[in-house]
Amino acid sequence: MKNEQFSIQFKHVVKKFGDTTVLNDVDFGIIQNKITTVLGFSGAGKTTLMKHILGLTMPTSGDVEVLGTCINKIGELELREFRRNFGMVFQYAALFDFLTSFENVAFPLREFTKLTEAEITEKVMNLLESVGISKEAAARLPSELSGGMRKRVGLARGLALDPHIMLYDEPTSGLDPITTHMVYDLMRETHYSNVHHGFTSVIISHDIHATLKYSDYVVFMENGQVVEHLDVESFKKSENPVIRRFLEL
Ligand SMILES: Nc1ncnc2c1ncn2[C@@H]1O[C@H](COP(=O)(O)OP(=O)(O)OP(=O)(O)O)[C@@H](O)[C@H]1O
Ligand SMILES: [Mg+2]
Repeated sequence: MKNEQFSIQFKHVVKKFGDTTVLNDVDFGIIQNKITTVLGFSGAGKTTLMKHILGLTMPTSGDVEVLGTCINKIGELELREFRRNFGMVFQYAALFDFLTSFENVAFPLREFTKLTEAEITEKVMNLLESVGISKEAAARLPSELSGGMRKRVGLARGLALDPHIMLYDEPTSGLDPITTHMVYDLMRETHYSNVHHGFTSVIISHDIHATLKYSDYVVFMENGQVVEHLDVESFKKSENPVIRRFLEL
């Protein structure tokens, strides 16, 4: 794999919290225009890995390069601006519970752009429509939506600033299997309708079946290390006993 194919690169990243090593010489690249899923048991270091991509956590040693920028070497202001490249969808959708769906999606646009009110309305309604949220649901508060709808609003909000990288930390936890597949379909559709301007999706998941169906690459973490990084077909055939156990669940 040539360097320029990577949109995110971990270069010998070590992360320690006190005496505990949470990332232990992580050294690999995430391929641009593909969907990569990070799998591994609880505590393996998946969320910590993702926080390094966002520059929310800095490595103890090593470097994290995102879209050609070494993000552990830039200042706080530059980093804030740089984060516009990312869209994030977290485990519990993390919507503002006092704002309607519409206002949740409008929030990053009000915060980070100089769009007019009319432009914001048009953009937000388009985003909500693209994730299947009706006009009526746009006016509701998160507490008045189902779990699947909240995830979709979260996805629309993550896409508001036209990111180049989407990060999802367990985007379907707590959803029934059918809704889970609908959300995955939407993530994949979103991904492939954006690759023309360079787009990378990174998903942390515990859902092995959805991962095998919807991802292009799989990163398997164990004890703070990336033990496998394979395309899905090779991953299915991996003879690593830990992965076999995971696949046979
Ligand atoms: N801020 C922190 N301070 C101390 N230890 C931390 C901190 N953040 C994470 N850890 C530790 O790092 C390890 C990896 O945590 P992480 O959240 O990355 O795991 P994970 O793979 O996302 O697990 P899960 O599947 O349960 O979400 C855990 O042992 C955790 O306790
Ligand atoms: Mg986690």
